[in-house]
Amino acid sequence: MGNNWKILGSELNDPDVAKGLENSLNGLIIGEKDYDSVLKGLKYPEFLQKTTAEKAGTYDNQPNPGHEKNDKGHLGDPLFKNLFPEGKQIEKFDLSPNFGTEIEGVQLSELNDAAKNDLALFLETRGLAVFRKQDFRDKGPGFATEFGKYFGPLHIHPVSYSAQGYPEIFTTIRKGGDGSRYDAVFQRKSKDIAWHSDISFEEYPASFSFFVALEAPPSGGDTVFIDLREAYRRLSPSFQKYLETLTVVHSNLYQRKAAEIRGQLLKIKDVSTHEHPLVRTHPVTGEKSLYFSRGFIQKIKGLKSEESDAILSFLEDHVTNNPELQVRASHRGTESGTVIAWDNRFLLHTATSDFLQYATGPRHHFRLTVLGEKPYLAEENKQNESENERPRAY
Ligand SMILES: [Fe+2]
Repeated sequence: MGNNWKILGSELNDPDVAKGLENSLNGLIIGEKDYDSVLKGLKYPEFLQKTTAEKAGTYDNQPNPGHEKNDKGHLGDPLFKNLFPEGKQIEKFDLSPNFGTEIEGVQLSELNDAAKNDLALFLETRGLAVFRKQDFRDKGPGFATEFGKYFGPLHIHPVSYSAQGYPEIFTTIRKGGDGSRYDAVFQRKSKDIAWHSDISFEEYPASFSFFVALEAPPSGGDTVFIDLREAYRRLSPSFQKYLETLTVVHSNLYQRKAAEIRGQLLKIKDVSTHEHPLVRTHPVTGEKSLYFSRGFIQKIKGLKSEESDAILSFLEDHVTNNPELQVRASHRGTESGTVIAWDNRFLLHTATSDFLQYATGPRHHFRLTVLGEKPYLAEENKQNESENERPRAY
């Protein structure tokens, strides 16, 4: 491992690289040029709305003070009796002992409030849940937004496409096609990985994301997750203590720039840049975790650039190069009706582009992104109550 920290997207400052990236991105993510042709072939075209010129720059996000007290997980039953009622045929499989669970037999669209509270607490302890055979996508964008709002205000993404009439719905799409996508994407780079925690550049970043598959390749395109609680626990106490003193600058500057290169109009006028602690406390479980949103981190505040780069390079290696901290959530094709949900406060994730050399349909999802609390590190006397608490059994 060398000291090779580079801000994700900063290569776009070079106009030649920006031009090359435009070609590369055109193999994968759609832009203004191919919007109409991609839209025609989709099973769920209502979930791909571009931002119009009249609406561009007119949106903003609301603050979310008090979320740490209002989080629905506080109301959840630690045994999840409402989410997994006795007598109901439910199958659960843990993707690893530490985090991530696949679930069959729970229909998200039918949950009552008590079950939603349990779901919040379940995500806050297990981190990630993969639900199969869901009817969520067929209930329409209005139903989905109402479901998401139960957990907190929904984020309006500055850059993404959305659903018709619902700017809170974040849409992500990788085009269908043949092996030419592979050639375009991997012409200038050898991997297409961007580890991040959703919207960490906001003052009130995400608690939960609900990621709903509209269409998915039969295999591949998985979302891979990293547990940042365990990444924190693996460090020595003295190094943990030092990291707890640090503040990190997060920004969506280059995400916006990439969208502009693709010709998209943006929903929100200003760049969003905010500072967050490198180690944060979960408001419901009290657990500490690193908050290392690789894709949006610019630097560590107040350190000299060599010091900041060295610590960020170490953390990148520590966090992202250890399969013991990871699980994969597979989307398993369109018919599986998969919805995955996770807690962004202590998980990182990335999409994977491992299917592009094969002829497949698109990878088309929508996401509900719930605003959480402003990240904080609890004071020492509070920390002692739950210090290094291991994940709860369920
Ligand atoms: Fe994401």
